[in-house]
Amino acid sequence: MKIAVIGTGYVGLVTGTCLAETGNNVICVDIDAAKVAKMQQSIVPFYEPDLESLFKRNINNGTLSFTTNLTEAVNESLIIILALPTPPSEDGSADLSYVLNTAESIGKVMNDYKIIVNKSTVPVGTADKVREMVAAHSKHEFDVVSNPEFLREGVAVNDFMKPNRIIVGTRSEKVKKIFAELYDPYMRQGERLIFMDERSAELTKYAANAFLATKISFMNEMAGLCEILGANVEQIRRGIGMDDRIGKQFLYAGIGYGGSCFPKDVQALAKTATEIGGDFRIVDAVMKTNYAQREKFLDKIINYFGANLKGKKMAFWGLAFKPETDDLREAPALYLIEELLKEGVEIVAYDPVAMENTQKQLGDKIGYAKNQYECLENADALVIVTEWKNFRNPDFEQMAAKLSNKAIFDGRNLYNLDRMQELGFYYNSIGRQVIQPEYSVIK
Ligand code: UDX
Repeated sequence: MKIAVIGTGYVGLVTGTCLAETGNNVICVDIDAAKVAKMQQSIVPFYEPDLESLFKRNINNGTLSFTTNLTEAVNESLIIILALPTPPSEDGSADLSYVLNTAESIGKVMNDYKIIVNKSTVPVGTADKVREMVAAHSKHEFDVVSNPEFLREGVAVNDFMKPNRIIVGTRSEKVKKIFAELYDPYMRQGERLIFMDERSAELTKYAANAFLATKISFMNEMAGLCEILGANVEQIRRGIGMDDRIGKQFLYAGIGYGGSCFPKDVQALAKTATEIGGDFRIVDAVMKTNYAQREKFLDKIINYFGANLKGKKMAFWGLAFKPETDDLREAPALYLIEELLKEGVEIVAYDPVAMENTQKQLGDKIGYAKNQYECLENADALVIVTEWKNFRNPDFEQMAAKLSNKAIFDGRNLYNLDRMQELGFYYNSIGRQVIQPEYSVIK
């Protein structure tokens, strides 16, 4: 099938590449000419595991191409997928200007029947708004479909190729047939395609993200209780996760969720509820807990050093909002760094892939280490923010030798408590007992 993907962010580019991989002809459109030029030279503009090989293969095959020319892409395609940003407006609602402006342009240039697909996470009713906008500018027939994505950064290719479900919001029988064919290669064994009306599809996306965020905030609150009651949140996670009704995933307490989706989508859902005169009390609480979680973690560091905080040197392991990505959007590391800098702390950081992006954002406000051990040189504490695999089983002896004070604040519960006790670290993690070394803490 001939497909145009408008917008080449994470979602657009992964979607376009994975659709090309199963034999479709995909043209990706972006207004950023420099980015398009890079992609035309087979350069992936961001880090996403497994994307590059598929991307290059399909460019070489001629099944994947890039342009800044919307008209050409629209006219050559049957399906037009909108993967555009929907950033939060000042009041927390999703800003639809990119989506609606593009819908207007499509309406003006389209030459034939088209299926216009909303992939971006958009508030309920957006399909209707897109439909009105296109209809106002075109005489041709078209359908508007809501087909939300559920791609996780870091495993987005796998999520696209092996989805646990595909949601298609449409009431048109013609579109259902075309989408059944389009997504057939991704079905593995068993039917994973769910058709529903457009509004339900739009709301399903918010419900999924808000529910997952709720699980995380629930566990973060639970971690707070564990710290006071002397229990261990990791045991609670195992204990409840074995119950299939609860499920094992998204029960990890930490420093709160970040990224491009959860914070924005949870906020937008709360906003939708307020706009229609209701309240989504659980979602409000989820947001509050999430921000409080970062602050509580910061307080742990500040309280440990007390009046001696100023001038201390801290090593940061991890900057990205989660492993396997260089994405810093709503990354808890940025919040912690900014707050500690205000307190006069010196910071040196290491992240396997997000250093370049951090440097762009923070410049020389912090130091950047070549590797995770160099980062620890003469530091008064190590702060672990992202659970990259290479932080999970490090050389503790080297760590002890490099740190000038053996203190670790672990926002991701990477290490075993007994081990940390044996090694003589001060170790403060989430929802677990604080490990105090036998000797008195150097401040
Ligand atoms: C999410 C959704 O999972 C995906 O379906 C949607 O389309 C986009 O948003 P993503 O933002 O890439 O994907 O990351 P995800 O792996 O879901 O993690 C989100 C945040 O939750 C991260 O900050 C992560 O550290 C945090 N998290 C996740 C926890 O704190 N605990 C957990 O148990 C799981």
